[in-house]
Amino acid sequence: MNPPDKLNHSYDFDHYSELHKKEELKRLYFQATIFKQIETDHLMQLGVDSCKTVLEVGCGAGFVSGLLADIVRHGDVHGLDSSQSLLDVANKIVKPVHPNVAFYLADACCTGRPDACYDFVYSRMLYQHLSDPLAALREARRVTKQDGRVCVVDVDDDWVMMYPDCPSFTKLNQLSSEFQKNNLGDRRIGKKLPYLMQEAGFSKVRLDVKTVSSFDIDPKLFLDITVKFKAAHTQCGEAQKLIGDIYSFVTEAKHKVLVAASVFVVTGTV
Ligand SMILES: C[S@@+](CC[C@H](N)C(=O)[O-])C[C@H]1O[C@@H](n2cnc3c(N)ncnc32)[C@H](O)[C@@H]1O
Repeated sequence: MNPPDKLNHSYDFDHYSELHKKEELKRLYFQATIFKQIETDHLMQLGVDSCKTVLEVGCGAGFVSGLLADIVRHGDVHGLDSSQSLLDVANKIVKPVHPNVAFYLADACCTGRPDACYDFVYSRMLYQHLSDPLAALREARRVTKQDGRVCVVDVDDDWVMMYPDCPSFTKLNQLSSEFQKNNLGDRRIGKKLPYLMQEAGFSKVRLDVKTVSSFDIDPKLFLDITVKFKAAHTQCGEAQKLIGDIYSFVTEAKHKVLVAASVFVVTGTV
């Protein structure tokens, strides 16, 4: 696969400090681990276990590619990402335990893969970072076989909440959404995905909104995954202060606090 000529997105691991890189890898690992059962059940429902060729676009450090490789026991999983540093981690940590996985440097809009070569194409938490999500969906459709499926999972900041109301939480979400918008991303992409899929030419488009909350996961761990990274991501001192306020708020509110976020899971058939 050809390396991307030009990147145009709101997630840049390579610009994080060494400390933030470590924290981000930990977050991606926890995110993949904590939701492993929900994600496995969903992928099994989509029949991914009988696929021979699977592509994960925006695979990052490859933790979800590893999960896909466990499901696709008799096939191959390809993970592609635009960050060589994250792919280096994937090759070091995930590849040795999953020989049926291979990682490639490429852009979501220009994968360099042949037409119609995958049974299933998956992307998780990628589309919010893309300047042209429609082009990426068209590319995913191009590389998927006839009757194969593409599934995109992403957030929508209109569907996150904290109870009791915490102004710092609201402000941080605003800052993060604005940052991403200024960098050609979109943290409110969830609700747009089903229509974008139809526009990209998919049939049988289905939307499933799944809500995860701190009722099932320790509230601080939930914040570690969904909130803490926003200081590094937005590169903004105000965000760091707001995050401190949110953790204090949760400590003081004790058992009464509830944080919830919905993820939009959209599937289409070629
Ligand atoms: C939040 S991470 C999610 C990683 C992984 N999907 C997961 O859920 O753990 C977003 C990933 O998208 C990648 N990415 C962003 N823009 C991209 C693009 N245009 N093409 C390919 N990958 C891209 C980033 O490098 C990063 O690895």
